[in-house]
Amino acid sequence: MTTSAAGSLWLDGRARAALSPPVDVHVDVAIIGGGIAGLTTAVLLKRDGARVLVIEAGRVGHGVTGCNTAKVTALQGTVYTTIRRAHGPEAAAVYAQASAAAVDRVAGLAREQDIDCDLERRDAFTYAADAGELGAVEEEFDAARTAGLPVELTDAVDLPFPVAGAVRLRGQIAFHPVRYVQGLAEAVAGDGSLVAEGVRALSVSDAAPCRIRTTNGTVTADRVVVASHYPFLDRGLFFTRLEVQRSYCVAVRVRGPLPSGMSISAGSPTRSIRSYGDLVIVGGEGHAAGSGAADEERFRRLEAFARAQWDVEAVTHRWSAQDPIPHDHLPLIGPYTPLPSRIHVATGFMKWGLTGGTLAGMVLADVIAGRDNPWAARFSPNRLSPRSTPQLARLNAKAGIHFVGDRLRPGIGATDDIPPGEAREVRDGLGKTGVYRDEDGELHAVSLRCTHLGCLVRFNRAERSWDCPCHGSRFDVDGSVLEGPAVDPLERREA
Ligand SMILES: Cc1cc2nc3c(=O)[nH]c(=O)nc-3n(C[C@H](O)[C@H](O)[C@H](O)COP(=O)(O)OP(=O)(O)OC[C@H]3O[C@@H](n4cnc5c(N)ncnc54)[C@H](O)[C@@H]3O)c2cc1C
Ligand code: FES
Repeated sequence: MTTSAAGSLWLDGRARAALSPPVDVHVDVAIIGGGIAGLTTAVLLKRDGARVLVIEAGRVGHGVTGCNTAKVTALQGTVYTTIRRAHGPEAAAVYAQASAAAVDRVAGLAREQDIDCDLERRDAFTYAADAGELGAVEEEFDAARTAGLPVELTDAVDLPFPVAGAVRLRGQIAFHPVRYVQGLAEAVAGDGSLVAEGVRALSVSDAAPCRIRTTNGTVTADRVVVASHYPFLDRGLFFTRLEVQRSYCVAVRVRGPLPSGMSISAGSPTRSIRSYGDLVIVGGEGHAAGSGAADEERFRRLEAFARAQWDVEAVTHRWSAQDPIPHDHLPLIGPYTPLPSRIHVATGFMKWGLTGGTLAGMVLADVIAGRDNPWAARFSPNRLSPRSTPQLARLNAKAGIHFVGDRLRPGIGATDDIPPGEAREVRDGLGKTGVYRDEDGELHAVSLRCTHLGCLVRFNRAERSWDCPCHGSRFDVDGSVLEGPAVDPLERREA
């Protein structure tokens, strides 16, 4: 099967046997999603004495948690500038305090659960690639310092190319994210709590108790946490508030010194850099998900950047993944709807969810246990963000344009000339069919109508998947769901 995890360094050799699926169990809290957000929530709730169940459609850590650059840091590019502009300095201070606590919580959980995940403390940098980016670095330094982080301005970054200046935050974390969350999953399982892999949640009723219909039976729970990355229940209208961005990574084996810090450029194009063993990882090339174009070219640009900076012996891995960006630039963590709800959500981590997913677990464990949490109100999904109205309008106009405009895209009439590994859109009355030819020459045809809200999916050549430009759902070439919010497969057609 093609997944977004294809080729990830962190999933290399990490095949883990699926655990038994549950059938008709009752738990205190059911958590949908076995990534860092869901598993951190589960571990902390279990520590509070709750009986928990994690429902994971695939395998633990094989979502976006297994497909990133694996930096756990409170310094995150120019995030404090962005949050201060959108919400003011008090919100930036809350984000800084919560992120710094999350970094320490990752170190604490790894130590307490004795998780072997190559965790190292390293300095994080946001650097100016040239003099033109220096203003952004200085503004970020001021925003992060005012927010309470012990940042410094420096030009001493251990990169093989000169930088015009950088913000540094000492003592952040580099780790192996899949080993870390597999360790969390082991901590969850036992004493009446469970982790069920290969089980997809299909619907959730907000009743007492909540009923979760899954592919393997019905679970009941007093509370539910939706940590499915992109929320798959539409009742919170999250699809109107999240834009999905796709990014790319390569890992290269290099001769010569490796960077010990974790760096990211302040400007464009983004280049995110860290080392792991004898490898250098370079990430970047972000764009709105589902745009379908030039995916291969993006990998080539990252490889060219790596070759220009290091003596590259081999390109060992390349992978891509996507993450939702909230319209008002703060994660969405808390009750699913403004009305009293037994369902909670954790999403919108802006490509910094190793820190954000951990802080989501900390907030949700407090909220569900009835404890005060100093950050909960700021991250509440039901907050008002008056300054973000134009961004919200742009996001929904974009989805509308895809819904209508993509139906007018021309399709071809024949499938004979589709080469192996390629796909075509074929006219089909008023609708459209996507036809993919696999390496054995066999054709696979699916309706291009996304089963979430009906936008037309597009072929992603790098991943060999059908991706939706509206809210980021992804489907395999046989139509099965790779990533939500969609839960139903694309309709199969005659090829
Ligand atoms: C290229 C790239 C680089 C990044 N680098 C960094 C970085 O260096 N540092 C950082 O902090 N962040 C980084 N991020 C972001 C970070 O990886 C994510 O924000 C974070 O992993 C999200 O965690 P999650 O638990 O919300 O989602 P996931 O890890 O995707 O977990 C969600 C899980 O839910 C499951 N699921 C979905 N729907 C259902 C359903 N209906 N039923 C059951 N299960 C379901 C999925 O299978 C999945 O396993 C990066 C992101 C990208 C794209
Ligand atoms: S993901 Fe919403 S319409 Fe496709």
